[in-house]
Amino acid sequence: MFKLKLPTDPRWANIAEENIEEILTDHAWCEQKAATNAIGLITMLPEYPEIVTELLAIAQEELEHFRQVHEIIKKRGYTFGRTRKDDYVNELVQFIQKGGNRDDLIVDKMLFAAMIEARSCERFKVLTENINDEELKTFYRDLMISEANHYTTFIGFARQLGDAEKVNTRWEEWLEYEAKVIQSYGKGETIHG
Ligand SMILES: [Fe+2]
Ligand SMILES: [Fe+2]
Repeated sequence: MFKLKLPTDPRWANIAEENIEEILTDHAWCEQKAATNAIGLITMLPEYPEIVTELLAIAQEELEHFRQVHEIIKKRGYTFGRTRKDDYVNELVQFIQKGGNRDDLIVDKMLFAAMIEARSCERFKVLTENINDEELKTFYRDLMISEANHYTTFIGFARQLGDAEKVNTRWEEWLEYEAKVIQSYGKGETIHG
């Protein structure tokens, strides 16, 4: 899937299913962060009206996902905990190219967003295929499709804003880096844990 170099061990889904309350809290905040990130990208691209329109749509979809997860938490009588630290995403942040020009930075931020969408989508797939909870099985299947579209959109933005060949080379570097990072995960009850 998306040429991710290291698939998630399906046993991670069992860890997640043992603590659905925790996974849902973490997941809700992931959606909040995705919405916030999309809005943040808009501030860098006001001169691209079509991209702004699409980023607004993504931000709204992520906010809708946030709302849906929050509804499930409420309906089940779970506690919605505080925002969780996302070590995986923090490690990806380290890989964003700094010190270059503004255009290169924007392209890399699009690839960073695409990377998180790709892995999140893969995690949702692992959940939908391996958990027993029928409601969440359906929920994660729907989200998987939505996040896959976001991945495609972010890659498309990178190709539109940067040199296609350079973007492809850089995307390969992202995939290599992410594969190294993700080796340390897959054992925790968070979406990227
Ligand atoms: Fe989402
Ligand atoms: Fe997304």
